[in-house]
Amino acid sequence: MHAGKLNDETRMKKGILHHLSTIFEQAVALAFPDIVDILVPVAPSSRPQFGDYQCNAAMPISNALKNRGIKIDPMNVASKILEYLKTDNVVEKVDVVAPGFLNIWVSKAICKERIFDLILNGIQPPPLDKVKTVVVDFSSPNIAKEMHVGHLRSTIIGDSICRLLEFMGHDVLRINHVGDWGTQFGMLIAHLKEKFPDYLTKSPPIHDLQSFYKESKSRFDSDSDFKSKAYACVIKLQNLDPEYMKAWNLICDVSRKEFQKIYNRLDIVIEERGESFYQRHMVELVRDLETRGFLEYDEGRKVMFGLEADAIPLTIVKSDGGFTYDTSDLAAIQYRIQQDHATWIIYVTDAGQATHFKVIQSCAEKAGILNRSLVKVVHVGFGVVLGEDKKKFKTRSGETVKLQHLLDEGLRRAEEKLKEKNRHTVLTQEELDSAKEAIAYGCIKYADLSHNRINDYVFSFDAMLEDKGNTAVYLLYAYTRIRSIVRNAGIDIKQLNKVAECGDLTISHDREWKLIKVLVRFTDTILKVVESLSLHHLCEYVYEIATTFSEFYDVCYCIEKNEAGEIVKIDMGRMLLCEATARTIEKCLNILGIRTVTRM
Ligand code: ARG
Repeated sequence: MHAGKLNDETRMKKGILHHLSTIFEQAVALAFPDIVDILVPVAPSSRPQFGDYQCNAAMPISNALKNRGIKIDPMNVASKILEYLKTDNVVEKVDVVAPGFLNIWVSKAICKERIFDLILNGIQPPPLDKVKTVVVDFSSPNIAKEMHVGHLRSTIIGDSICRLLEFMGHDVLRINHVGDWGTQFGMLIAHLKEKFPDYLTKSPPIHDLQSFYKESKSRFDSDSDFKSKAYACVIKLQNLDPEYMKAWNLICDVSRKEFQKIYNRLDIVIEERGESFYQRHMVELVRDLETRGFLEYDEGRKVMFGLEADAIPLTIVKSDGGFTYDTSDLAAIQYRIQQDHATWIIYVTDAGQATHFKVIQSCAEKAGILNRSLVKVVHVGFGVVLGEDKKKFKTRSGETVKLQHLLDEGLRRAEEKLKEKNRHTVLTQEELDSAKEAIAYGCIKYADLSHNRINDYVFSFDAMLEDKGNTAVYLLYAYTRIRSIVRNAGIDIKQLNKVAECGDLTISHDREWKLIKVLVRFTDTILKVVESLSLHHLCEYVYEIATTFSEFYDVCYCIEKNEAGEIVKIDMGRMLLCEATARTIEKCLNILGIRTVTRM
């Protein structure tokens, strides 16, 4: 057998699960043509004696038939599905077992082919039906305000979604919808003008924007004179008065630099297109909505209701004539559809903003901006970050945690861990530094991504820095260990390519087969994550690879050494499995935004 020569190859590119689901769906449709809309669940089996995959469609079909007065027990339903199943060289055997399961064994040859393909051609994404232009709106902190752990979640999840969709081959626009146009600028500029009157000629030394913000906020709240000045400043700014634009730019720059430090540390690439970017578009949009009669007056404000008239409306124009968060989001969705030609828009924010995005979509639909059959809009929501006391994440003294400090603490703790293991005596300073960063940032990202994003999650350095269990530390160690197996055996890729070309892999142990089966599920998993945009599925998968590898490596000798410690025998088939495992783990970690290191 030779790699890539199978006629099933194209069909199989979407993965085994996709293939099995397709042929079982077809069988169900033929066997029970009157049953529509029934799910045909196919999933990996929980135990090897139940086959490699299982189809559990018989029970629900039997129930659906019963509801129509037709009595066929699940065993017979399963047998009938099997009768109509178009078998091919992917499926080796299907058993019907009580009370109506279809246990599926897949061809070892086909699975091996996929491993050979991975070695020869690298890890390939499943084929795309259509390349989409995807706007991923993530991170999006607010200028002059704290970039908090909520934004950190958005940054981590959003970046990983971008990496996933880029890997799939989509055109991804990574957009930072920073809050740079709100009313807070009125008071910030008013304060700036008073504190640094020569700001137009001399760059004001604002180092700590947070305290600058606090100072101006307290004046705003207590001094009515200052308050009216602040309002006047917003109007000037929104009319793009050059002097005020300059002040605004100065303030934005300070924040921008701070944000960029975080992005650099976490390897985040993102393009800033804040609320202000849409100013001109907001003016035009509002005019258009007004002439088309979409705006209603409500106590001096202009609001717009979506298609569900009972839902809360968007505030499009405030009573003082200013625009809002709603206005900028409506203009942004229009810009993304009409100018960016996006066919998929993804917003990554805390779950609390779900309603906001629903109303935005609804109003966009009503105004003819959004056509849902052409553009998919998804809000990827996530829960709150909690401290170990299960309360809102705060410092010991009760303040919001500064992200720079959080990352520093991660580094310190990672270094401590490495020193506990005496790694500093083995690694060079450079290796130690990269290991420390990979661990610290990797842990923070992985802890976030490995939990179902919808839930709140507890931020705990102790838990995320554990080297056992489903943590980044465990995975990074597993990865470096696997890489070192191949490296220490002195095997190069040409030799492995040869093994793959000759199809020289005998499966002589259960655990080899188990590992192969897990590895070929990569495509299944990727498709599931693309569908759900829930990265914890990918984390569970990569963890499963690492544990399955360790079960394999415990009993399957890859290298035999004599008493003097010299290599006497190398099992090249198993070396190939090591390489395939390392590559798959690396790809998964890469999608999760986690750096790998060769030594740690
Ligand atoms: N700046 C907002 C916040 O901090 C998030 C913006 C999200 N994106 C959007 N298009 N509204 O809550």
